[in-house]
Amino acid sequence: MVEEEKFLDYIAKAVSVKNPVTYKKLAKSLKRVGPSHGQLANEFFAKYVQYLATRQLTLDYGVGCFLQMVADMLIERQKFLETGSYANSSYEAVDKAIYSNPEIMDYHMHGLVLAQFLWPDQFERYCFFRDFFDSGVPVQNYLEIGGGHGLYVMAARQMLGVDTRMVVVDISQSSLDLAQGILADSSIEFIHSDLFKFDTPTKFDFITMGEVLEHVEDPHRMLEHLKSLLAPGGRIFLTTPANAPMIDHIYLFRDEDEIRALLHDTGFVIEREHLCYAEEVTPELARHFKLPLMYAAFLHVRNG
Ligand SMILES: C[S@@+](CC[C@H](N)C(=O)[O-])C[C@H]1O[C@@H](n2cnc3c(N)ncnc32)[C@H](O)[C@@H]1O
Repeated sequence: MVEEEKFLDYIAKAVSVKNPVTYKKLAKSLKRVGPSHGQLANEFFAKYVQYLATRQLTLDYGVGCFLQMVADMLIERQKFLETGSYANSSYEAVDKAIYSNPEIMDYHMHGLVLAQFLWPDQFERYCFFRDFFDSGVPVQNYLEIGGGHGLYVMAARQMLGVDTRMVVVDISQSSLDLAQGILADSSIEFIHSDLFKFDTPTKFDFITMGEVLEHVEDPHRMLEHLKSLLAPGGRIFLTTPANAPMIDHIYLFRDEDEIRALLHDTGFVIEREHLCYAEEVTPELARHFKLPLMYAAFLHVRNG
């Protein structure tokens, strides 16, 4: 049995045994994270470990999934560097290969749970969300699209309190099962739907959409739909990567300016943004080597 404050150490040790090369990179990059890292990681991993136990699994399962996801990424990166594009360009292909394949979706999503705290760019965007989420404006209806592992809706619930209605919409049943299982919070509504097919008369004061825009063929259309779900004066927290090949990524943003231009063209105002490269190099080098960039921003609708 791993003690609650030791989950992160346990994961690091397990990675070092199973894959020393990945561990070397991890140990270096974990030096970049801030002081709250250990506490936030262990808080979420405690919930995750409880959920794993309900499936007769242990943290070693999560470590195996993480390493499988890292192996997939290396292959996708190789293809990306050879072709200059992501391997998938159609939603249909990804749906067939990934979303409708519970086995792949399961290990991929479990891998992402660990990545939230093992990859500095993921952790930085989480800190950015926590630091600037609370604008002092009350949120009655909160929506998360593509909630995945549930980390963000958990944090939002903690910050907003119990009076806010919270809804998570995800196209993958595996993602919903994972988030529901980890959070074990029956006050959050989980809806199985493609965002494009999701509509409701209740509009939302705040919408979080992390790492979903790159999963669609037409991000412009997705942002227009997102806008239609927002209440007047509502705000959005959005993240999406550039140059980040993954088995389920479709739309390739080549740099932050392409993302900003899209946000501007769809009528959004960027209130505040945060950029983080996956590797600790200068932005010039990162651009030259097409290294993954994490883009995160708080937005509202122009004249909205
Ligand atoms: C990479 S995960 C992101 C998880 C989490 N939001 C985060 O920021 O780390 C992408 C999630 O978006 C979901 N997704 C992809 N396309 C979607 C769509 N069209 N409508 C709703 N959910 C979608 C996937 O099933 C998956 O759970």
